[in-house]
Amino acid sequence: MDKNINITLKVWRQKGPREKGAFETYKLTDVSQGSSFLEMLDVLNEQLINEGKEPVVFDHDCREGICGMCSLYINGHPHGPDTSVTTCQLHMRRFNDGETITIEPWRSAGFPVIRDLMVDRTAYDKIIQVGGFVSVNTGGIPDANAIPIPKKDADLAMDAASCIGCGACAAACKNGSAMLFVSAKVSQLALLPQGKVEAARRAKAMVAKMDELGFGNCTNTRACEMECPKDISVSNIARLNREFIWAKLKD
Ligand code: SF4
Ligand code: FES
Repeated sequence: MDKNINITLKVWRQKGPREKGAFETYKLTDVSQGSSFLEMLDVLNEQLINEGKEPVVFDHDCREGICGMCSLYINGHPHGPDTSVTTCQLHMRRFNDGETITIEPWRSAGFPVIRDLMVDRTAYDKIIQVGGFVSVNTGGIPDANAIPIPKKDADLAMDAASCIGCGACAAACKNGSAMLFVSAKVSQLALLPQGKVEAARRAKAMVAKMDELGFGNCTNTRACEMECPKDISVSNIARLNREFIWAKLKD
């Protein structure tokens, strides 16, 4: 049964991208284990505001595991100690009375800190943008079964499309590699007939942009797969490599 706990928070505070950051320690009492991790941070911020101090800046939007905004490193894990959940889906019942919880922003060259726990993740948006478009014939709405797609391919494409662009993969990787993210975004289209027309151009452009933005190389540590809240498989990275080599051979 949920109860109220007392915790100590070690929170990374940093006034701006070029400022030097440091951990600050806060005590929170009577935290409901039924509250979410972000609700706990809301309580901390109310406490700080009441004390006349600056609240902690952190990113969030949907609080339902959909938008990928809640990018926090909690006790050494992106999105915290639970598997297959985002920070907003993490609950305080995962922590014990008297526990110290360390909260940091993503630590990756590709995601510079904006302030406190908020990082700039527009690098992922830029990679998506160069991925471009999917060609479709205009006209009336096509029959749902006009293009038959094997169930296995449809399932794999849907699995890849569940990536929410949160950035945990690059943050977890010792090389700061964005390969899991890019491979998911390439795979979700490459697996379907509709995505084949621009597949070669898309794979080359997204890999080139990923390299240009300073993300590192993949050395198969699989840390990304371990920490991904949406269980994106590294088999997508193998598919991306095949798509990329095929595109280069076509050149
Ligand atoms: S692959 Fe996983 S960890 Fe990486 S951005 Fe997508 S959902 Fe987040
Ligand atoms: S706030 Fe949207 S995924 Fe966590």
